[in-house]
Amino acid sequence: MSLSNEDSASKMAAPRHNAWIGSDGAGGCDLRSDTMTTPTASMLAAIQSCTLLDDVFNEDPTTMDLESHCAALTGKEAGLFVLSGTMGNQLALRSLLTQPPHGVLCDYRSHIVKYEAGGVATLTGALVKTVVPKNGVYLTLEDIKANVYLDDDVHTCPTRVISLENTLNGMIMPLQEVRRISAFARQHGLKMHCDGARLWEVAASGAGSLVDFASCFDTVSLCFSKGLGAPIGSILVGSKDVIKHARWVRKSIGGGLRQSGVVTAAARVAVDETFGKGPNGEGGLLRNTHVLAQEVSKMWTDLGGKLVHPVHTNMVWLDLDDANCTGARFEALGREAGLKLLGGRLVIHYQIYQNRDFVIPRLANIFKAVLGGRGQSGGSHASQDGETSMYRSQ
Ligand SMILES: Cc1ncc(COP(=O)(O)O)c(C=O)c1O
Repeated sequence: MSLSNEDSASKMAAPRHNAWIGSDGAGGCDLRSDTMTTPTASMLAAIQSCTLLDDVFNEDPTTMDLESHCAALTGKEAGLFVLSGTMGNQLALRSLLTQPPHGVLCDYRSHIVKYEAGGVATLTGALVKTVVPKNGVYLTLEDIKANVYLDDDVHTCPTRVISLENTLNGMIMPLQEVRRISAFARQHGLKMHCDGARLWEVAASGAGSLVDFASCFDTVSLCFSKGLGAPIGSILVGSKDVIKHARWVRKSIGGGLRQSGVVTAAARVAVDETFGKGPNGEGGLLRNTHVLAQEVSKMWTDLGGKLVHPVHTNMVWLDLDDANCTGARFEALGREAGLKLLGGRLVIHYQIYQNRDFVIPRLANIFKAVLGGRGQSGGSHASQDGETSMYRSQ
């Protein structure tokens, strides 16, 4: 029997390749973000053998295993799988806050204020107060004390949650400082949330374990779909009560999933294989990316380039303004070399590390084209002024 035209057209349209190829996929040359990592064959294999029960009914073993594993890794009572980092942050804040007037205090560069479509305002009605860290890198207790509202004066919007992001722009907020802020918050009855989309990187760097950091917070959200390479998802961890409430809020905004094993199976592989099996990322793949990020930053500063931020983990922020190079030109140089770039932020995720023999010589040539002829005086950190966005051209 011969195929009709329609049958043969749909056969032609069907993908003939397996796209689950990790660093051999598009993510392997994409330095715009660690969200670009391509999911792997072992994630696909895990999906093929996952359970397919209903998670709104709390019945899916693959999902419940992932939630309890992440709760154990972070030393929390419970976990909740959520569709995105944004959803994790927003559910956390909605669950920690109760009745207005209430305020959230955070770094002025926080994802929750800059990149979550104003969700804190619409979902919680909280007043967000942003703080510029005096040291240019991370908030200190002194920054918090200078901006927190603790009184009950009728004119005041009292601070109820301190929300910290770690890493922020790839930079680590040290454990000692987080502990100081947490002790202060507890003393004054304030809740603590951590946007830990990349807390995995902090733990892998040796700055403290997931448990060390998470113990300072009421809630922590961590992403599977960034540096860990999963296609979808994040986890929110916290006490049983807060997570129970967050599950309720998740349902109310349409985030309750049915056969969620399809996504949670891949997320579990991302945790085990990319982060590693222990709370410090033991046996994982992240540590090498930090070493490579240092090498990339040295390549740039040795040519006289400056950095916008210090390099603590997997991000290198090149100061293109100082180099007299527009983002558009830098991106065009990347395109010619087969690399995807976005402004001066380079994210050295684990698939870049796996493709380093291809990527690094090309980056070196781009750096030379941009900085050719400059002296050897680079390496200092220029401070970033004014309102900026990763996604909008300035
Ligand atoms: C620090 C941080 N938090 C939260 C998010 C939100 O994650 P998602 O894009 O999954 O909503 C991002 C996204 O890049 C992020 O960088």
